[in-house]
Parts: sequence; C-alpha cells; structure tokens
Amino acid sequence: MRPRLILCNKDFEKMKIVMLGAPGAGKGTQAKQIAAKYDIPHISTGDIFRANLKEGTPLGLKAKEYMDKGSLVPDELTLELIMDRFTQPDCKNGYVLDGFPRTIPQAEALTKALADNKDEIDYAVNVEVPDERIIDRMSGRRACAKCGGTFHIKYNPTKVEGVCDLCGGELYIRDDDKPEIVKKRLDTYHAQTQPLIDYYEKAGKLKEVDGTQDVDKVFADIVKVIEA
Ligand code: AP5
Ligand code: MG
Ligand code: ZN
Repeated sequence: MRPRLILCNKDFEKMKIVMLGAPGAGKGTQAKQIAAKYDIPHISTGDIFRANLKEGTPLGLKAKEYMDKGSLVPDELTLELIMDRFTQPDCKNGYVLDGFPRTIPQAEALTKALADNKDEIDYAVNVEVPDERIIDRMSGRRACAKCGGTFHIKYNPTKVEGVCDLCGGELYIRDDDKPEIVKKRLDTYHAQTQPLIDYYEKAGKLKEVDGTQDVDKVFADIVKVIEA
C-alpha cells in the first residue's frame, strides 16, 4: 500500500482536479507540477491525441483533422478515450485533468461517471490569462514529444536549448501554435469551453488563479487554494 499523503492536516489522497483555462494559459505547465507534488497522474487529452498521432493510430489521424483547424475533437471520440484512461490502475489515486472536460456535455459525462461511483471532483482550477497575452506565449512555446513537458524560449527556458529538462527528450514546435490557428483555438475556447467556468462555479468547485504571474507564483497560488 502506498503511503498516504497528508499535508496541513488535510488528506490529499485521491485528489481529483480539473484544470480550466484558455489555450496557452499554462494548464499543462501547472498540471505537471501539481501531479508531481501530490503524486497523482497528469492526464492531458491533447497530449494523448498527439501521442496517437505520432504513432499513426486511427484515433490520432482522426483527431488531427480537428486539431489542425483549431476545432475540438468530437465529444464521442474524446469521451471514449478518457473513460478508457480512467480504467487504468493509476487513476485510483486521483488525477489532474488538463484539457478535459472542454464542453458542457464532456463535463456532464465526467460528473455522471464519478457520481456512479459516489465520487466527484475536488476542484476546478481556472488559470486566468487574457487573450492578448496568449499569442506571445504560444509563439515561444516548445513542447517535449516524449513526456509532454512544456517550456517557453523566454518565460520558461530549458537548461539546454532544444532539450527537455524533465526527460531529456527533444523539443518541437506544435503544429497548432501558428498564430492563425491560435486565434481560431481562442474562438473555440470562448464558444465551447468558457461556459465550464459557470458550470463549476455553480457546482461549488471553482478556484480562480491569476495566470499572468510567473510560473512559480501561479503554482504557489494553486497550492494555496487547494490546501486552504
Ligand atoms: P491541448 O493540447 O489541450 O491545447 P490547449 O488547451 O489549446 O492548451 P495548450 O496545451 O495550448 O496550453 P496550456 O494551457 O497547456 O499552456 P502551456 O502550459 O503549454 O489541446 C490541443 C487540441 O486537442 C485542441 O485544440 C483540440 O482540438 C484537441 N483536444 C484536446 N482535448 C480535447 C477535448 N477534451 N475535447 C475536444 N478536443 C480536445 O503554456 C503555454 C506556453 O506559455 C508555454 O510555452 C509555457 O512555457 C508558457 N507559460 C506557461 N505559464 C506561463 C507563465 N505563468 N508565464 C509565462 N509563460 C508561461
Ligand atoms: Mg497543454
Ligand atoms: Zn520531456
């Protein structure tokens, strides 16, 4: 049996967190740190789609059609993938979800799947960054194909240029980080994903964090709201 993780007299075992925020808000950057600190898996639907694409699976090729346009992959495909991921043994310890749910039907499906097991998410953390900052962040992003780590040439540089600090993998520029696709992704976000802020607010799960601060300060604020 794994040791229980107890901090500040609060039991963080099996914590389930949803990361909300626009493309480029820093969901992935923060989710990686949350996963490490609380010893829970980081599950990014975007990373799973990209890994599938790299392997050339039918799911990856199908997802690419939507990702390259800045649209969302259909709920049916995404839900099938994530529900399958939840059956893996590491999810018994909780998880931090990054990029899922992204539509109201996805959020409802997650709530229902958990409720069927008399469970629920603990927090939905919204990393708030205004649109005008996003393009700048995306244009300097470098991602690791091996572990999904994300860096920025100016704001979060790696120790060695082009090499992932976390796993030594090679860094690349994502296909959907072209400015015209980023604009489309932002439109998609406002139309389909932003309503989740209201959804989780009504459910009493929402925690807001100012994502325009330094990476470390954003993380400290997230820890503060989780451990409050
Ligand atoms: P996905 O991979 O989830 O992309 P996204 O939501 O657009 O978010 P990003 O990964 O671009 O940004 P992020 O918030 O993780 O920011 P990051 O930490 O990298 O999805 C891609 C596509 O897959 C979607 O468009 C869709 O087609 C499909 N998809 C995925 N999930 C889906 C779902 N559930 N349903 C349907 N379709 C789905 O940070 C960005 C940059 O900023 C980095 O360079 C980073 O180093 C830097 N940075 C981070 N924090 C800071 C900071 N505090 N200050 C300065 N720079 C910072
Ligand atoms: Mg990401
Ligand atoms: Zn890596």
